[in-house]
Amino acid sequence: RYSMLILGIESSCDETAASVVKDCRTILSSVVSTQIEEHKKYGGVVPEIASRRHCENILGVVRQALDEADVSLYDLDGIAVTYAPGLIGALLVGVSFAKALAMSAGKPLIPVHHIAGHIATNYLTFPDLEPPYLCLVASGGHSHIIEVLSYTEFRVAGRTHDDAAGECFDKCARAMGFPYPGGVHIDNAAKTGDRNAFRLPHPAVAGSEFDFSFSGLKTNVINLLHNAEQKGTEINRNDLAASLQGTIADILTDKTIKAAEALSYKKVTLAGGVSANTGVRAALSEACAKKGFEFYMPEKKLCGDNGAMIACQGSYNFIAGITADESLNAIATLSM
Ligand code: KG4
Ligand code: ZN
Repeated sequence: RYSMLILGIESSCDETAASVVKDCRTILSSVVSTQIEEHKKYGGVVPEIASRRHCENILGVVRQALDEADVSLYDLDGIAVTYAPGLIGALLVGVSFAKALAMSAGKPLIPVHHIAGHIATNYLTFPDLEPPYLCLVASGGHSHIIEVLSYTEFRVAGRTHDDAAGECFDKCARAMGFPYPGGVHIDNAAKTGDRNAFRLPHPAVAGSEFDFSFSGLKTNVINLLHNAEQKGTEINRNDLAASLQGTIADILTDKTIKAAEALSYKKVTLAGGVSANTGVRAALSEACAKKGFEFYMPEKKLCGDNGAMIACQGSYNFIAGITADESLNAIATLSM
């Protein structure tokens, strides 16, 4: 019996990842090699180091993904790769590698937008989920509310004007003395903190009513810490973490629910690195339940960057005839 096998390759930031996915939604293998330990020393991702590590690791990661899936290069129907957006030097490693692999094996090359990949994580988690629906994608680089019209057609309903939600988590975490990437440390600290200890702003945004702004919130938290330090007063880190997480969760939830109502969606999904956050998961799922909306969020291991999401979205792109030739290039900034 014929089944479709797609290899997905992801190298847009600090994870070198590859995966083989069968028939769009079944993960046969998923290998993620993270560089976090190395970037931690610098308090954030150092682009050149990221590129170099991708270059060193990509062959091993792809080979392992094929081995674990028990699939040969020649069994594949196509090779999908993240081509945008992300760190340009990091993207170029994956794109060049995927091109060479596709050419040498005589396989179609399938370009995948990183955000579309995140959106696809819910197809891997929920076999029956189908578009159309509204998706909140929140990660280190993006905060978008997206109308998912079909498997390959998207319309951006809202976006951030400045920092992404994950960036706000990470920069506040850094100011609070947590290591990079700080989002998960805020999440852990928030568990024993008082969400109402600090009253933090919901920054106003000009433009679309579904757009976000997180830089004001970030500045507010940094100033709070700075002022406390100057006065020599103690700030309870767990309380601040809980208040920050609660505020970010409220902002994301509030706009997503408003957009769903205004655009008449009764099905809502959550995706992106920040979808791992306990507070965001709880707030959006509760709000959707209250409104009677269907709600979907990826299992935690699929929230961060991985190859399976690229293989899954790549499968849908392939079915829709979205392939690339040898002129495919990486693009650092590209809206959906
Ligand atoms: O999707 P992702 O892996 O990379 C990008 O495409 O940006 O997202 C990474 C972001 C980082 O900002 C990280 O701190 C955040 O997701 N993140 C979290 C949690 N886990 C990851 N933020 C808050 N709570 C978490 N549990
Ligand atoms: Zn990502």
